[in-house]
Amino acid sequence: MSIIFNKDEKTFTLYTKNTAYQMKIDEHNALAHSYYGKRTEYDDFSYSSNCNGYAPAFSPNVPDLDGRYYNNHVSQELSVMGIGDFRITALGLRSSDGSLACDPRYYSHEIRDGKYSLPGLPAFYGEDAKTLVVTLKDSAYDIYFHLYYGVFEEYDLITRAMVVENKTDKQIKLEKALSATIDFPCGNYDMLYFHGRHMRERMLDRTRINFAKTTVSSIRGASSHMDNPFVIVADSNANEEYGNAWAFALVYSGNFEISAQKDQWNKTRLVAGINHENFNFAVEPNESFTTPELAMVYSDKGFAPISNNLHKAIRNNLTRGKYKYERRPVLINNWEATYFDFNADKLVSMAHDAAEIGVELLVMDDGWFGKRNNDWCALGDWFVNEEKLQGTLKSLVDRVNKEGLKFGIWFEPECISEDSELYRSHPDYLFKIPNRQPQLSRQQYVLDFSRKEVRDNIYNQMVKILNSANIEYVKWDFNRHITDLFSIALPAEKQGEVYHRYMLGLYEFLEKITNEFPNILFESCSGGGGRFDCGMLYYMPQVWTSDNSDAIDRLKIQYGTSFAYPVRTMGAHVSVCPNHQNARVTPLKTRGNVAYFGTYGLELDITKMTKEEKEEIKRQIKEFKEHYDLIQYGDYYRLISPFTPEESLYCAWEVVKQDGSEALVCAVRYESDASTAQEMVKVKGLCPDKWYRINGSDRKYLGSTLENIGFYFEYDFFSYPSRLYHITLA
Ligand code: DGJ
Repeated sequence: MSIIFNKDEKTFTLYTKNTAYQMKIDEHNALAHSYYGKRTEYDDFSYSSNCNGYAPAFSPNVPDLDGRYYNNHVSQELSVMGIGDFRITALGLRSSDGSLACDPRYYSHEIRDGKYSLPGLPAFYGEDAKTLVVTLKDSAYDIYFHLYYGVFEEYDLITRAMVVENKTDKQIKLEKALSATIDFPCGNYDMLYFHGRHMRERMLDRTRINFAKTTVSSIRGASSHMDNPFVIVADSNANEEYGNAWAFALVYSGNFEISAQKDQWNKTRLVAGINHENFNFAVEPNESFTTPELAMVYSDKGFAPISNNLHKAIRNNLTRGKYKYERRPVLINNWEATYFDFNADKLVSMAHDAAEIGVELLVMDDGWFGKRNNDWCALGDWFVNEEKLQGTLKSLVDRVNKEGLKFGIWFEPECISEDSELYRSHPDYLFKIPNRQPQLSRQQYVLDFSRKEVRDNIYNQMVKILNSANIEYVKWDFNRHITDLFSIALPAEKQGEVYHRYMLGLYEFLEKITNEFPNILFESCSGGGGRFDCGMLYYMPQVWTSDNSDAIDRLKIQYGTSFAYPVRTMGAHVSVCPNHQNARVTPLKTRGNVAYFGTYGLELDITKMTKEEKEEIKRQIKEFKEHYDLIQYGDYYRLISPFTPEESLYCAWEVVKQDGSEALVCAVRYESDASTAQEMVKVKGLCPDKWYRINGSDRKYLGSTLENIGFYFEYDFFSYPSRLYHITLA
């Protein structure tokens, strides 16, 4: 049993393979958090949750309870504002009388088979998982807090979410409604987080969680390139294979915050959920509010196991649809090949040359609709520019299909250009604050997707296009962040709901369109990796990782992304040199090797490649397909970090079959130096007592030798060399 309620001690214990999580209905009927960490034999851990200190230290007593019960000292499952818990809290509830307080106490609980789902929101799913719902009730009013816990034993994954239900006869207002509180015992913890910017997403950084609040957040209306809704909290000496580490991934793509802070007793609290800035949500009588889900994975052996468990959970229990497991076609995208300057003949000639080297799908990117020949116009006009396409969309798709390639198409459904027919007929569809001029970003505005009629308009246009030809792939882009937040559909006092209602509208749209077209492969994109999160992965199984296609910059981007997200979700393409984003020149082989650890595709004008280059790409497609299952489903290990050039000039990562019988190591040298030292790498996940060969070498190595001593990288005297080392049983 993965969820146990101990009646005598009033504890709930959630067990996964290697983890225990415990909470307790304490003597005052509050739900205290007792433990989250390594799996141990059952015990009541709650003695550790009430940290009295030797003095109240200005912490108020809970009324009617004995003088040593301070909410401010107890580790909580649901931390709330207004009742003397002065730490960062997850919930701020304003009652109809205007007060900002609530006092949740245990009411009931239920243990169920299967994983709960969240209406209208993305969430992990699984029939083999278990659900615990603990319902708390406010001590004064009929307001209920349903705390949801999902337990996936196999992946050491626990999920959490909360539903606030208003059974009073008056409106209540949530001014803060985060998904979860996690209280850690006294100690020193670090936070690993993944910041960045456009074309430089998910740069790994690490900071000590101290008495000043540490917050990772977005207020951009999207999870963003700048911060990712994923962090790891770890012992201050934890590394890839050592120490306690807890991963937290929000299943949400909008404004978020993950905050952590040490309290006055050296305990650390983390809260995670929707950003409470510019948020408030009215819950009417007999209605409820559901928070997004927070996924949590713990390991006592450092970061590698939490990444691998999250990867498996995302692959098996978050992504959906035909392409969840099916091999995805190798694609060629025309964006960096042509930008807006293309026509049907150009695309067909690309398809022709691409077919010859084994490419399977051609994506027509931005510029095929309305009168869009630059990024100043036509977003919202989702009808074909037949002059540019030299005929109907169907005729182009048929021609591409005839060349032997599938066909894919680009949309940016959430945005509108001022110079568009949609704007001219519906100038009220975008976010715009009355009496203020809205802000342009990439020459475009954001549509108010919280409104059904706006969504319906775009949906109907898209459906018409997708039904008009044999379209088998869609790239869903979003190229700006939200400003001018105001929805004409809501009264003044509800404008704080718009960010979240936008997300609910977007998720509804995505659910509908992916169900309507189950055979289409959807790829999420937001100026590259600006919305790379578990929310989007529920609808679209791959994400264009970054607009930066330079193989060397990609090392950091893909390495950082790998802490949470599996290789199978990372869109990665080979592009031309000098690279369009940073002018770097790298070997074609290195570009291929890096793109292998992603979806592998092309982003170049294949018609302009030399015969030798085409041959090399043909070889790469063959090699990628040969290793496809290993790369996509193997365990992933980060071997040498690209963020520490003082330690190594290489970046290396590895995928290994779960039974240890085969591994593939990719090593890229990202800096040069003279009189260089030869570097070694240690391999992970092999069977210690079995013999292996590296790339068919004569010499055999014991698994334990490769794991403890490693092997030398081969030396190449040119810039940015890379090697693949295929390790097989001897
Ligand atoms: C941003 C994307 O990330 C690019 O790949 C491309 O699709 C452009 N948008 C098109 O406008």
